[in-house]
Amino acid sequence: MKFKLLITSLIIFIGFLYITGTIAEDDGGFKGGEGIEDIGKGFGSLAIAMLGIGAIYVVLRRGYLLAKKYELTKNPEFGEQIVTLYKTLRGPTMFVHMITNIAATLFAIIHGIMATEYTQITFYSGWIAVIMMVILSISGSVIYFKFKPFWKYRESRTFIRFLHRQWIFSVILAIAVLIHLALAEDD
Ligand code: HEM
Repeated sequence: MKFKLLITSLIIFIGFLYITGTIAEDDGGFKGGEGIEDIGKGFGSLAIAMLGIGAIYVVLRRGYLLAKKYELTKNPEFGEQIVTLYKTLRGPTMFVHMITNIAATLFAIIHGIMATEYTQITFYSGWIAVIMMVILSISGSVIYFKFKPFWKYRESRTFIRFLHRQWIFSVILAIAVLIHLALAEDD
């Protein structure tokens, strides 16, 4: 519980520092249109940072499954260490995955609403990324918090898990973010 509180506070604190830093750096402050634009950009960068931190769980899980596939977990020298490391880190990184990805989704939505200058391609790539994040955040929350939706949970659980774990949404998200970042500088 203490760990969860610490992580949540830390993420809120980093977000607060980042946004206040963006305001402080900006000469126009809140008055000029540029100030608002810069804060909007700050939310965009924060969203990317949160997505990156949230991906640690996915890397850990995939890394472990790969280690298992190649029987590294059975290695007499370091096999047990791999298993212990994975079991120790799985819970905390999953919690971080949940918090940072929900934050990333909210930050990306704020970023999109605050943006005033964009081209068609940055507009579409940005909102496609947000749609993917919303789908993943909702499906992830249903799994994590074991929400009981109005339809039968047990039956829908397998489908929602499949929806979240298959990679197509994450791949579309990554491509949309890359296009968005690559073209944003040209605006
Ligand atoms: C918004 C961006 C998100 C992305 C890109 C994402 C991506 C992923 C991926 C690729 C996996 C599968 C890992 C594997 O291959 O085993 C996964 C698992 C998981 N994610 Fe997310 N996720 C996101 C948001 C969330 C949120 C917001 C939550 C919770 C509120 C969440 C909860 C989970 C859970 C519980 C699992 C494990 C599912 C299982 O073991 O069946 N995810 N996520």
